[in-house]
Formats: sequence, C-alpha cells, structure tokens
Amino acid sequence: MLYDNIEIKDGRLIFAGADAAKLAEKYGTPLYLMDEERIRQSCRAYSEALGGCLCPGSKAIYASKACCFGKIYKIIAEEGLGADVVSAGEIYTAKKAGFPMEEAYFQGNNKTDADISFAMDCGVGYFVCDNFEELDAVDAIAGQRGIKQKILLRVTPGIDPHTYDEVATGKVDSKFGVAIETGQALEAVKAALSKKNLDFRGIHCHVGSMVFDSDVFIRSAAVMTGFMSDIKKILGADTKILDLGGGYGVKYYEGQGEIDIPANIRLVAKYVAERCSSLGIAVPALRLEPGRSIVADAGITLYTVGSVKKITGYKNYVSVDGGMTDNPRYALYGSRYTVLTANKPEPAETIEADLVGRCCESGDIIQPGVRFPTDIKRGDLVAVLTTGAYNYSMASNYNRIPRPPVVTVSAGRDSLAVRRETLDDLTGCDIF
Ligand code: LLP
Repeated sequence: MLYDNIEIKDGRLIFAGADAAKLAEKYGTPLYLMDEERIRQSCRAYSEALGGCLCPGSKAIYASKACCFGKIYKIIAEEGLGADVVSAGEIYTAKKAGFPMEEAYFQGNNKTDADISFAMDCGVGYFVCDNFEELDAVDAIAGQRGIKQKILLRVTPGIDPHTYDEVATGKVDSKFGVAIETGQALEAVKAALSKKNLDFRGIHCHVGSMVFDSDVFIRSAAVMTGFMSDIKKILGADTKILDLGGGYGVKYYEGQGEIDIPANIRLVAKYVAERCSSLGIAVPALRLEPGRSIVADAGITLYTVGSVKKITGYKNYVSVDGGMTDNPRYALYGSRYTVLTANKPEPAETIEADLVGRCCESGDIIQPGVRFPTDIKRGDLVAVLTTGAYNYSMASNYNRIPRPPVVTVSAGRDSLAVRRETLDDLTGCDIF
C-alpha cells in the first residue's frame, strides 16, 4: 500500500486501524478521515530533526492552511509545534482551540488593518511582514496599543523550487515578500529596524510546495545566510530567526519521488550552522513551516458511487457523491491521486474510468484514468488516498453542496472533529 496506515484485510479497506466501510456507514459519504497518530508522528519527525540540529532553538511551525479545524490546533499544540496562520479565520479557530497564540506566526501578503488589530487582540506572537506598507501598518497599530510587535520579514531569495507554477513563491517576481536581488529586502529590514514599535527578529522565505529536490532548501539557505551577513555588515543587526518556510513534497502515487525529510533537515541545519560560522555571524534558530507533509498522508476521502457510465467506443465515468467541492486539486493543478474501490480493493478484472464528481461542470474531475473493478456499480465505496492536505481547507460550497465532515481516527477509534454542513448552514448568511 501507498502508506502503512492503509491495509487490505479480508477484502476490506482498513485505515488507521478502522474499517473504512463501517465509518462510511456511520457518518455517511463523502467523508474525510484523518489519522491522528500519523499527524502526531509527522510532527515528531520534524521536532526530533530540528530539536537535535546544529541550530539551537529551532522548531517547526505547522502551516495550518493545509488543513484547518479546531481539533488539529490542539494536536499541534500538544506536539509542541507553532502554527502558521494566514487569516482572521485561522487565528480565530486556533485561539478558540486554546492554541498558545504566542507561538502563532501571521503570514500573508495583504493583512488588512482589521486583521492586524484582530491578530494583536488575540496575542499572535509573530507577524511575518510581507511589504513596506505592512511594516508601516503593524508599527502604527502596535504603537496605538503601546506594544512592541515581534516580526520576521518575508523576502524572496530568487530560488526556483522546480514545482508547479501555482505554488512556486520564492522567485524574484513573486507576489510574496520583498526581493533580495533588487536591494529592496535590505531597505525593508532597514525600515523595520527604524520603527519604534517593531521588534525585528529575523527573515522568512517560502520557495514553494511539493519540493523533492534535496538541494532546494540548501540553495535558499545559501542566499538567506548571505543576506543575513549583509544585514549584519550594513545595518549592524543580528538575525535571530531564519524561517525557511514549508514545502517538503509528499508521495501521492506509487513511483512518485520521495524525500527523507529528517535527513534533509539535518543537512540544511548543518549547512546553516557552518556557513554562519564562516561568515562570522551568529547561528540563527531555524523555523520550518510544513503543512502538506504533516497532514497529507494522514487523510483519505470516502465517496459512494452513484452512476457508472460506459460510453461505448469512447470512455467510462464513475460518478461519486463529492467532487471538486471537496477536492479541487485535480481541477486546479492536475494533481494525481491513488484511488481504491474500498469494498472491492483487489479486483481480478478492471476497467478504466474517470472518477468524477456531482458538480454541474465538466471540469469536475477528481482523477482521470482510474482502474476500477469491472463490476463497479451504484452503492460501491471509493477511497481517494492522501487527501489530508489542501482538500478540506480548499473545499467550497459550489452548487450549494454542503462540506463533508472530518472524522479523526486514532488506533482504530473514530471521533467527529467537524460535523457535516447542513442545508441551514448553507443558507445561514442569506437574507430572505
Ligand atoms: N509557509 C508558507 C508561507 C506557505 O505559503 C505555505 C504554503 C507553507 C508554509 C506550507 O507549504 P507545504 O509544506 O504545505 O508545501 N493549495 C496548494 C498548495 C499551496 C501552498 C501554499 N502555501 C496545493 O493544494 O497543492
């Protein structure tokens, strides 16, 4: 199987020790399942690699945009990770879950004054400032409150992470951050240092997502430490925190690349420590911001088949009760997934069909070219694997379809983390 939390026992799909078909019966479909132990293991892998690395004080920050709901912030807090939050909605959810907000890092390229005030009200520890206007705004709002706000400055190191364009964010022409190459990043650090109500702690970059090349983080660390040296030489300031963002890739199908994340982290930390010594600057504490690699392989989605359409001489479709509303990633990025028929996981004979959803749009494809049992029919259960990241968090109500529930599974025991949306939830904001 693609991951060791998925197995087939007596012709049944077992996920995180629980029988997938029984959970589908109990909660209905579509259904997101999340393996809590797997989330915790992934957190620990980061904490162990960073905790013992050559850059003291290093830690991981969970990028909660990958999958955001109340209980996940509790799990992350228990595992000792910080949280990357990007909106008042994520901040509100984290705070409501009792997350220690001094360990929250507020990201994003356009924080409104209302967002900034709200984040300060909630006690968010760090602002990752993206641009000059934001430095001014955070300084002004911190001043009104009589506080000194800790900040990191987001910069672009000009690194191409060799991934798909939608998620490549570290190039010089990115909408995020301030470019080192053009000299504007140094100007921004200078501006930050001059502001009375800002406490400049360090620099941040995020070069992209689904990174498998083991040298991407080393290359960005090379540029970032060089920039730290300029900050020291030209502005006389220390960079206490070096945040290299998230981005480690995850395997969605057999034969896809893989990366040994802990080993890569240790290499990057060693590189940073040695390079800082040779540059004569203080070794910073590292921050990494994994999202996908914490939750992707902790999730699967279950669907019920509604129709099997065989267009003689053309192609076949298997339609299920979800679609681009709960997983827009194929429609957006052409992302590949592994798909199983959960109640017939090892079929003797198969047909090829596109797995499609129920939305009124031809682009509503979850995955093209899937092998299904030849006798697949209405009522069968389909599982899409590795859907823990950027599925629930990117789900929509297109066609006024309610979002599915999220159920966490821990050692075979299930527990509802997000209930299914109701029709009243859908009309809740409407003025009739
Ligand atoms: N830090 C920052 C500042 C980010 O922008 C992101 C992701 C991360 C950390 C986490 O990256 P990860 O470890 O998850 O790769 N919707 C796309 C992914 C967008 C990623 C956006 N930023 C997808 O479904 O593939």
